[in-house]
Amino acid sequence: MTELQEEILKRRTFAIISHPDAGKTTLTEKLLLFGGAIHVAGAVKSNKIKKTATSDWMEIEKQRGISVATSVMGFNYGDYKINILDTPGHQDFAEDTYRTLTAVDSVIIAVDVAKGVEAQTRKLMEVCRMRNTPVMIFVNKLDREGKDPFDLLDELEAELNISVRPLSWPINIGQRFKGVYNIYEEKLDLYTPSKQIVSESVNFKDINSPELENYIGDSDAEKLRSDIELIEGVYPEFDKEEYLKGKLAPVFFGSALNNFGVKELLDCFVQIAPSPRPIHAVEREVKPEEEQFTGFIFKIHANMDPNHRSCIAFVKICSGKFSRNENYKHVRNGKLMRFSSPTAFMAQKKSIVDDAYPGDIVGLPDTGNFKIGDTLTGGEELHFKGLPSFSPEMFKYIDNADPMKAKQLNKGIDQLMDEGVAQIFTNQFNGRKIIGTVGQLQFEVIQYRLLNEYGAQCRWEPLNLYKACWIESDDPAELENFKKRKYQFMAVDKEGRDVFLADSGYVLMMAQNDFKNIRFHFTSEF
Ligand code: G4P
Repeated sequence: MTELQEEILKRRTFAIISHPDAGKTTLTEKLLLFGGAIHVAGAVKSNKIKKTATSDWMEIEKQRGISVATSVMGFNYGDYKINILDTPGHQDFAEDTYRTLTAVDSVIIAVDVAKGVEAQTRKLMEVCRMRNTPVMIFVNKLDREGKDPFDLLDELEAELNISVRPLSWPINIGQRFKGVYNIYEEKLDLYTPSKQIVSESVNFKDINSPELENYIGDSDAEKLRSDIELIEGVYPEFDKEEYLKGKLAPVFFGSALNNFGVKELLDCFVQIAPSPRPIHAVEREVKPEEEQFTGFIFKIHANMDPNHRSCIAFVKICSGKFSRNENYKHVRNGKLMRFSSPTAFMAQKKSIVDDAYPGDIVGLPDTGNFKIGDTLTGGEELHFKGLPSFSPEMFKYIDNADPMKAKQLNKGIDQLMDEGVAQIFTNQFNGRKIIGTVGQLQFEVIQYRLLNEYGAQCRWEPLNLYKACWIESDDPAELENFKKRKYQFMAVDKEGRDVFLADSGYVLMMAQNDFKNIRFHFTSEF
């Protein structure tokens, strides 16, 4: 095996996703604890992570107490190199999370045992399903009262639209929680509430052995045996291939806060989760073990230093070895670029790296050369497939509030949109610019950044729209006819594609009815 192949096989690049408060931050912290990346619990407050250097980059985060940004945490665990891509906790920044999901090879979903599947989890799962991303589920907060685990499994299956297979099983819940039986490793893990200690597990191949009673008592032993029998009867054997295809989600139970069940999750994760896989570019499929370096920008992180308008562009390495000071081709503008201080993210620290491998994320200092979705290669003309934009949920006209600063405003808007802060549409009827976001907070971020970074002032005018749909048709006459009929509601996106701005669900439905030869898309990737 070549050095490159060995490095690839070691890599596990993933994100934890959840509805806010399900325990993503706590779980991330415990994983870092196992990786020795931090030494005490409480050191990470991921979406409240601002106190640490890792995402202390934007002034605005400090002000709002919400992580606007996505950061990367790398650490070694046994023979594995793990990269966790953090996603913003606040749902107004869901676009950021969608993009991050294009750079991961798998996902862990954290679910609160009492709340079950919540809105944000459902939405993020849809994005995973679009790309067939393998997912594992961690049911958290077993130290609290919650739903019956069998009911919860049914809920996960129905709501997330994926088959599930428990690989661990709780013994009681809440006050009476005694631990889990690790089905995957045939071990009994007994629960001791503790934020710092990892509990010992006991090998327990045969749960029919009378020994079980000694550990968990008669009634719980009996219940566990019948539960496991039911699981084995109802759920087929765990099939790793199905998991890798994104069709089957293994489920673990535990309590992240009490450091319980997390190591089991991690141990199974490193064994079954995929290392970097081939990625489709427009031209061809790119395999990670190819010699030539390729990668794409999935995130641009702005304004780390308020005195300079510098950014960090995050590159996911797709193939080959990335080396410092090599010439690489920036495919969109055809330029060769050399990076003298690329950064890696290990153990919550940034440091300059000489080499990086597929699955790794490297931060490149940027002064406005990159856009989200840009491809870098060792020379080949390759374009990794675009990252999808979803129809925004809120829309506002953006107007200039300081006539002396029109140029600055336009430049600022252009650059912020390249960074993927929000989406921009130009109304074809009145020529005005419309900004589309997922939540109100994004408008505030844009306004703040335009002022602080570009010295420009903007004003918002609310616009009541239901959805933006990308439209296309094989019938040019019908398309023209539609555009004429709807001329007040036609816009173009940043790439000049036609977008229909529907002001209500009813209007959209009527349009779909009246124009059968037009396809209406709710994401930009079709
Ligand atoms: P998030 O990133 O998904 O938003 O969730 P986070 O980890 O911040 O956890 C949300 C809350 O749930 C936190 O409490 C956290 O301590 C708690 N929590 C996480 N895991 C468990 C668990 O296994 N059991 C129990 N009982 N609670 C858990 P908080 O009060 O909001 O924050 P804090 O004051 O404790 O920091």
